[in-house]
Amino acid sequence: MPRPSRRDAIYPVSVHPQSGFRAPRRFICSSFLSTMVDSIYRTRSLGVAAEGLPDQYADGKAARVWHRYIGSVSDRTSVYRMWLSDFLRSKGVKHVLDVACGTGVDSIMLLEEGFRVTSVDASDKMLKFALRTRWGRRREPAFDNWVVEEANWLSLSKADLNSPTEGFDAVICLGNSFAHLQDFDGKQNNQRVAIANFHDVLKPGGLLIIDHRNYDAILDTGKAPARNIYYQGDVITSIQTSCLYVEGKATMVTLDYFLIPEEEDTLEMKQPNSETEAKPDKFRLSYYPHRVKDFTNLLKTSFGEDTSYTILGDFKPLEEIETPAYFIHIIEKST
Ligand SMILES: C[S@@+](CC[C@H](N)C(=O)[O-])C[C@H]1O[C@@H](n2cnc3c(N)ncnc32)[C@H](O)[C@@H]1O
Repeated sequence: MPRPSRRDAIYPVSVHPQSGFRAPRRFICSSFLSTMVDSIYRTRSLGVAAEGLPDQYADGKAARVWHRYIGSVSDRTSVYRMWLSDFLRSKGVKHVLDVACGTGVDSIMLLEEGFRVTSVDASDKMLKFALRTRWGRRREPAFDNWVVEEANWLSLSKADLNSPTEGFDAVICLGNSFAHLQDFDGKQNNQRVAIANFHDVLKPGGLLIIDHRNYDAILDTGKAPARNIYYQGDVITSIQTSCLYVEGKATMVTLDYFLIPEEEDTLEMKQPNSETEAKPDKFRLSYYPHRVKDFTNLLKTSFGEDTSYTILGDFKPLEEIETPAYFIHIIEKST
C-alpha cells in the first residue's frame, strides 16, 4: 500500500486498498465510492428516485425482463387469480389500492375482475409498463378510470392519493414487494412508517393483504426456491441466493435471477417497443428477510393486537402446507 506523501497531507487523498489508486478526497470518483458501498450492501442499483428512495429498478434491467419473468399476464396462475378476487368479493371490497403495482400485473388482473383500482409504485421504470397498458386499453371504461401514480410508501397519504373520503376498502402489497424496503438503521423504522401509512389509507374495517417470501426457510437452508405461486413464467433457470449477516443478524438476502436467453424461450408476451431494447438474461434484487414472527409484530404495532388477522402459506391455511414459498398476511383495520 503506497504511503501518503507530504502533499497528501495538504490535499488529503483516498487510496484504493487493492489497486493503490489515489483520488483527492474532494474529487473522489463515484464509481470508487459505489464499488465500496455495493460490496457491503449488494443492492440492485444505486439509482435514487425523486423522493430519495433507493430504487432497485432504476437501471431498467429488471423492468425490461419482468414480463418474461412473470409470464403471460392473461394466464396468471388461476389459483392466485381466483383466490384474490373471490376473497376480495367475499369481503365486499370495491376499491383496491395496489401499493406495489410495478408493471401493473395485479392491478390489471383486478380491473379485469371488475374492481376499481388505484395503483402506485416508486419506480418510474416499472410504472411505464403499467402506463402503456393503461393507454393501450383506455377505451375500456375500467382502464380509463384506472389511476396510476408514482408514490413512495414512506410518504403515502390519503391527500396525495385522492383516496375515497373514508379510505380504501383494501390495500394490497404483493409479489414479495414489501421486503424491498431495507433496514439500514437496524430498527425497522422505515418498515413501521410504511405499515402505518398503509393503515392510514384504509377505511375502518379495510384490509391489508401483504406477503413475503418464506425467509425463515431461505435463511435456514441458504437457498430460495425457484417455485413461484404468482407467476406462470418458465424462463428462470436458477436463483442464486446470498445472505448478508451483520453482528450475527440476517439483514439482507440478495437473489440473482438467471433467465434462459430470449431467443430460446417461446413466450409470446412482449411489451410494446421491447424489440428495440437490450434484453438482459439476469437481474438481481435485494430484500430484507422478514421472519414470520417479527412480521406479525410489525403489523400488530399499527393495526393493534385484537384485530382480525390471518396468515396463509401459498394461499392455504398454514396447517395444510409444510414449507410454503410465500407467506400472505391479511389484517383488518379496526372499526
Ligand atoms: C417485486 S416488484 C412486484 C411488482 C408487482 N406487485 C408484481 O407482482 O409483479 C416490487 C415493486 O415494489 C416497488 N417498491 C419497492 N419499494 C417501494 C417503496 N418504498 N414505495 C413504493 N414502491 C416500492 C418496486 O418499485 C417494484 O415495482
